[in-house]
Amino acid sequence: MSEQTDSRRQISPRARSDEKRLDGLLRPQSLEEFTGQELLKTNLGILIEAAQARGEPLDHILFHGPPGLGKTTLAHIVANEMSVNIRITAGPAIERSGDLAAILTNLRAGDILFIDEVHRLGRAVEEILYPAMEDFVLDLVVGKGPGAKNVRLKLPRFTVIGATTRLAMLTAPLRSRFGAHYRMEFYELEAVQEIVLRGADILQVPIEEEGAVVIAHRARGTPRVALRLLRRVRDYAQVRADGRITVDVAHAALDLLEIDELGLDNLDRRVLGSIIQKFSGGPVGLETIAASISEEADTIMDVVEPYLLQLGFIERTARGRVATHHAYDHLGIPGPAPRQQNDSEQPRLFED
Ligand SMILES: Nc1ncnc2c1ncn2[C@@H]1O[C@H](COP(=O)(O)OP(=O)(O)OP(=O)(O)O)[C@@H](O)[C@H]1O
Ligand SMILES: [Mg+2]
Repeated sequence: MSEQTDSRRQISPRARSDEKRLDGLLRPQSLEEFTGQELLKTNLGILIEAAQARGEPLDHILFHGPPGLGKTTLAHIVANEMSVNIRITAGPAIERSGDLAAILTNLRAGDILFIDEVHRLGRAVEEILYPAMEDFVLDLVVGKGPGAKNVRLKLPRFTVIGATTRLAMLTAPLRSRFGAHYRMEFYELEAVQEIVLRGADILQVPIEEEGAVVIAHRARGTPRVALRLLRRVRDYAQVRADGRITVDVAHAALDLLEIDELGLDNLDRRVLGSIIQKFSGGPVGLETIAASISEEADTIMDVVEPYLLQLGFIERTARGRVATHHAYDHLGIPGPAPRQQNDSEQPRLFED
């Protein structure tokens, strides 16, 4: 996912590695340091404490939700809290069932296997994973032809943590093998503000509280975006001001980046503009929208759409995406005759 997000910003490999280093620095290490997602944190805390009290490995955990909300971060935190090793892989990286067998046979009791983009596991690989997750056994076929034999190996008890931005693409059997499912929600404004302030503290950038509010408002309820904006505003403060992030500095920097007051950037506006102007407000299929603005459908689905849905700017219908009157209002485009929409409903920035 982060690859797709990066492709939206033209950055050099060197700048990218610097951003990676900062990412590590900014990543919370414990549940206590992790801001927001209160309900999820409470439930996860209980899961961890109960397993620890019983002296057992954790049940398998699935984190799902839009990119940049902290799924990978939480997987590392769970490993820290349980004081166990974490082995990291991703759905597309496990090409053959043999690759997974090699990973599984190297796990030790209690280890966490983190599988990012778990919806992208191949069918054959998944079939090895089912009995491994359920009964901690590995079924292998040894030899070829009529002499081939089924061999069953016992595995240590381990924990799979899966992460996905596309819950719907997960097969039902795989989904059912995760004992704990946690949905990540967009963050509330106060939580994002706290994340910005904590980030500024770590980066040692002087920031006014109100400056953090400006950044938080435009961060679309997403820590990754908040921290990215913070770094760009820091650049601006350094080059165009005295290094301090004030309200004016934050506004000026974000305006220059064409990020509007709801956090929509150029790509978001192009998507909305396409639905409204090229397809008369929809309904229009996602692939068609993507082609019309020369973007990848996956980027739009993962990065753009969840936030526009959250704002109530688009709706998903059986025949495609439809722009709501809130989208017209926001872009300052005269709307069509009102559809069957509830006009009293205001767009909501963050979950109540
Ligand atoms: N609650 C939080 N508090 C502070 N920082 C956070 C929090 N959640 C996430 N972050 C930061 O936001 C960034 C993105 O988080 P992370 O990589 O865990 O997201 P993700 O859900 O795994 O995204 P993707 O779906 O793209 O893999 C990281 O730099 C992380 O440090
Ligand atoms: Mg991740």
